[in-house]
Amino acid sequence: MKKILVTGGTGYIGSHTIIELYQKGYEIDIVDNLFNSKITVLDKIEEICGKRPEFYQIDLLDYEKLNDLFKQNQYDLVMHFAGLKAVGESVEKPLEYYENNVGGTINLLKCMKNSGVKRIIFSSSATVYGDPGDPKYVETMETGRNLANPYGKTKYVIEEIIKDQATADAEFEAVLLRYFNPIGNHPSGLIGEDPNGIPNNLMPIIMKVARGEIKELSIYGNDYPTEDGTCLRDYIHVVDLAKGHVAVIEKMKPGVLIYNLGSGKTTSVLEMVHAFEAASGQRLPYKIAGRRDGDLAEFYADPTKAKNELGWQTELTVDNAMRDTLKFLAQN
Ligand code: NAD
Ligand code: UFG
Repeated sequence: MKKILVTGGTGYIGSHTIIELYQKGYEIDIVDNLFNSKITVLDKIEEICGKRPEFYQIDLLDYEKLNDLFKQNQYDLVMHFAGLKAVGESVEKPLEYYENNVGGTINLLKCMKNSGVKRIIFSSSATVYGDPGDPKYVETMETGRNLANPYGKTKYVIEEIIKDQATADAEFEAVLLRYFNPIGNHPSGLIGEDPNGIPNNLMPIIMKVARGEIKELSIYGNDYPTEDGTCLRDYIHVVDLAKGHVAVIEKMKPGVLIYNLGSGKTTSVLEMVHAFEAASGQRLPYKIAGRRDGDLAEFYADPTKAKNELGWQTELTVDNAMRDTLKFLAQN
């Protein structure tokens, strides 16, 4: 049976992907430093799948420990989710972000090289497109220009490092998955996004407002050139996103494959509020605040390449995500 090392596997997207991987019969080891996740996720995965991943609490910056792990195990593939992801924090702490995200990835690639592991799937982001002028992002567009923050730059730099590694080793197989805006959780409500500290992203904030932990949602600007004036994003249910990872494994080959994982549809911030209200039957308090620095009015995926080459497309909707989020909220 093929064994996959999942870095960041106790985190939000990693844990959902593990559930889909188990359905295909893969064996899973996790490396995570638990900086932004909880060990109890392993119990939840076991409850859902009847299987429990082997867990190693290792920081990717701890090269020796990581290298020992690779020496002791034979991995067929690495799925690399581990990283810091708070955009605002990355502006205040750029060195931490470059060190953790870029430094951690370099350590990982070195350990892979030492032990002859030649396959990696990396969690990239739509943010690498910067501000290309056209809101419909296609994989062939240039990346790395006008990146708004250090977080986005780490994703771009890591993509380039992985491409260079694939150039240096003709047998190296890499996939760069550019996620759009992941939301929702497993329909069981057992696992979901539960970040430590103050969240940045829209859905975790909506969840905190619903729980009464935050008084109201501040909508960052209603004077954008969109129908209702609020920003448009391509929200993707995390279960669809997880399935995208599984779909790509079979298609890996020497070189670098790049895919957008998004729905191709947009939803405004106000529409997100209304979708939550419709699902919950509860009013969500909000106020209109000023624009947030670096926000674009609109961007969304062209998902054609993933559909044609992977046979993958999103199946779940924003309303499905709201329903699942409410289930998670009720249970946690
Ligand atoms: P998450 O914070 O829930 O999961 C990341 C995990 O990595 C956490 O469990 C954290 O403890 C771990 N980690 C961080 N640094 C580590 C280190 N040095 N060593 C070991 N473990 C470490 O985040 P997520 O939403 O699941 O995101 C997963 C990946 O997807 C990240 O790389 C993120 O940048 C990327 N991504 C996320 C989004 C999003 O909106 N959630 C969008 C685009 C891309
Ligand atoms: N928003 C609010 N109020 C909030 C939080 C967000 O109005 O309190 C709005 C934002 O202005 C934006 C939309 O909700 O219009 C979505 O914001 P998020 O922060 O959830 O997501 P972004 O699209 O800004 O960015 C996210 C990730 C980035 C990633 C990008 C593309 O945070 O890391 O998606 O994948 F690069």
